Parts: sequence; C-alpha cells; structure tokens
Amino acid sequence: MRLKSLKQRVISRVVRQFGRPHGVAGRLAGFVMAHRTSNRQRNLWVVSLLDVQPTDRVLEIGFGPGLAIAELARRATRGRIYGIDHSEVMVHRASRCNAAAIRAHRVELLHTSVDRLPSFDKPLDAIVAVNSIGFWPNPTQRLNELRRVLRPGGRIALASQPRCAGAAADTTASAARELQDRLTQAGFTRARVETLPLDPPVACVLAINPADAEP
Ligand SMILES: C[S@@+](CC[C@H](N)C(=O)[O-])C[C@H]1O[C@@H](n2cnc3c(N)ncnc32)[C@H](O)[C@@H]1O
Repeated sequence: MRLKSLKQRVISRVVRQFGRPHGVAGRLAGFVMAHRTSNRQRNLWVVSLLDVQPTDRVLEIGFGPGLAIAELARRATRGRIYGIDHSEVMVHRASRCNAAAIRAHRVELLHTSVDRLPSFDKPLDAIVAVNSIGFWPNPTQRLNELRRVLRPGGRIALASQPRCAGAAADTTASAARELQDRLTQAGFTRARVETLPLDPPVACVLAINPADAEP
C-alpha cells in the first residue's frame, strides 16, 4: 500500500515536470523532450500538416524545448513565429536553440501562460500546440480566446501523444475525439484527425477559424 502511494507520488511529480518544467528536474525533462526520437518525429510531423507558407505568422503554445518553433521558422522564412510557455526553464532552453532566428526577429518567445495571451499587432495565420492542451486551465475557453487572435480562415493544429502508463491506440483515439469536440465547441470548423503511427500513435486534430467568424 505504502509502496503504491510512493510510486503514485513519483509518477505525479514526473508528470508535473512535463506540465511545467522547473529547476534541475525541469532541465532534465527539457533534455529528454529535445532528444527523444518520438518527440522530434511528432513535432516535425505536426508542423508538416499545418501547410506553413513563407509569410505566415504562427503562434505555438507550450513549445517546450522549441523543436516545432525551429521547424516553423525554417518554413516561414519571411513570416514571424511567436511562442508562449509558462515554464522559465523551457523559455531559456528554446531561446538557446532558436537564437539565430530570434536575433533575426523572425522568432519571439514569451514567458507567459495561455490564459494570459499577449496581444498581436495583426491576426495570426496559424496556431499549434503539441502535447500541451492537457495542462491548460479551462481548455475550451482558451480555444475560444485563441480563435479571436486567428484570422478568418486561419488554421489550428492540436496534437496529442498520450504519455500515461499503458497508453495505446485507443487512448490516442479518445484524446483525438476530445480535442475535436473542444474545437467544435469553441467555434472552429472542418475539424479532421490525422494519425502518426508511433507507439503510442500521435493524433493531430486540424481545424479552421470560419471565414464569417466574429473578430
Ligand atoms: C509535455 S511538454 C511538450 C513540449 C513540446 N510541445 C513538445 O512536444 O516537445 C508541455 C509544455 O507545455 C507547457 N505548458 C503547459 N501548460 C501551459 C500553459 N498553461 N501555458 C503555456 N505553456 C504551458 C509546459 O511548460 C511544457 O513546456
């Protein structure tokens, strides 16, 4: 019984590190996320689905070590990439990894939470979040707020690769259904699911801010 509660405490500490990495353990979590092959594949794949154009202005929420940020910047050569993350450790790590693009004013990374969105001078073309929405407070409300900083016709991609013990294809499928429902409730349209066959699979739900959306 005691052993079980110790195990649960350890697991919940580790999970918290991925939800808001901090301190030495947070730096370790950042290292794992940056180097794990499945993480790299997942982030590159999600960006490839977003159809990023050279002049696009894209926001990533919960960028962690900044893998997707680097790939977005590689594609949006004349655009601007914004990222927010509420972990100071991750902001430092991702800033180091994207230093050249930041110096060139093509990438801007901010230390803030999704429930304290910065203001943008112009509407965004796309928004992406990879394995992050599960940690947000009141996610459907956050998606509604995000829709308002996206231009009509703008794209959103939310990806999930469940990392809980025993996660399998059905865990991913149910995460995808939940994301699809949340996007629809928040006013996005044409939600569709793509799946990357890793172990466990990654689901990416893509949707559109309707053209007749209220600003
Ligand atoms: C599991 S990590 C995923 C990191 C990265 N997207 C990846 O796939 O490698 C989740 C990230 O989301 C960030 N995050 C969680 N909740 C957040 C919130 N409310 N606002 C901003 N960032 C958040 C965490 O700090 C962490 O960097």
